[in-house]
Amino acid sequence: MTNKAQSAAPELAVEIAGVRFRNPVIAASGTFGFGGEYDGLLDIAALGGICAKGLTVAARNGNGGTRLWETPSGLLNSIGLENPGIEAFIEQELPRLRALGPVVIANLSGGSVEEYSRGAELLSASSVDMIELNISCPNVKSGGIAFGLDAASAASVVAPVRAVCAKPLIVKLSPGAPDLAAVARACVQNGADALSLINTVRGMAIDIRRRRPVFDNITAGLSGPAIRPIALRMVWELYEQVDVPLIGLGGIACAGDAVEFLMAGAAAVQVGSASFSNPAAMNQIAAGIESFMRENNIQTVNGFNIRRRI
Ligand SMILES: Cc1cc2nc3c(=O)[nH]c(=O)nc-3n(C[C@H](O)[C@H](O)[C@H](O)COP(=O)(O)O)c2cc1C
Repeated sequence: MTNKAQSAAPELAVEIAGVRFRNPVIAASGTFGFGGEYDGLLDIAALGGICAKGLTVAARNGNGGTRLWETPSGLLNSIGLENPGIEAFIEQELPRLRALGPVVIANLSGGSVEEYSRGAELLSASSVDMIELNISCPNVKSGGIAFGLDAASAASVVAPVRAVCAKPLIVKLSPGAPDLAAVARACVQNGADALSLINTVRGMAIDIRRRRPVFDNITAGLSGPAIRPIALRMVWELYEQVDVPLIGLGGIACAGDAVEFLMAGAAAVQVGSASFSNPAAMNQIAAGIESFMRENNIQTVNGFNIRRRI
């Protein structure tokens, strides 16, 4: 006979900024489209959340030339925020995305403070559950990552967005910031309800046959297992710096990877590139987290945390 603690089913649900997720596994922005692309490839309703692909107020065609390039244990991308624009998203994509079941997070980018604010206004009037502010995209020429590299720039966009944003606000951080802790603190001081980290790491590749950089923009964003130790270290370090929930991502491909982030203090995880090679990865990760909880007598997701805030 098992004792009471062992027989209680683990609770996978987590709450972030007042929003309940059925489990801590969320599809990362830009790697899951608007959900429909993965129809039939996994149990989408079993995900904790879906972070939709990056949106801007006006539609964007994205970057020309090569957009994806495989590297050892990683993937370089230079998509350039191709998207239909926020109004078209709300009209044509959101009803279907909502109907899938998981928490819906809109990922918002912009080329200026005004564009970010307008985007936040439009999304606030929609049925999305949360907004993730992307101040960390390395693949656009104006805005994007520039806002995420230092505390003053981050504050200059988070504060006005917060003022018009009626939804819980996640700010997505760039690993390129020389002082990420300062950026994180500025985001929280100016109204971020949660932080997600990390976006891709800037990298490049050269096509040796053509004797030129692979990407039209020269640099691109590196994702996948190659960046996981960097992402994990950043979550570990930021945990002591801010008192809002952290959502960890970067190279998570299996349950053990996700557990590392939860142990480092993350309240939830996002999974991006892993879904390209294994569309069922997120279902397997959620199931693996649950098995780990049963085997190790962990009752809640928070129970993974091996950190204490100081
Ligand atoms: C093809 C591709 C497109 C992406 N588009 C976005 C985006 O629109 N907005 C965003 O915040 N992050 C975007 N990202 C970054 C991912 O959400 C994630 O932060 C990064 O890939 C690290 O996670 P991973 O290693 O699990 O993929 C994109 C990543 C990839 C690979």
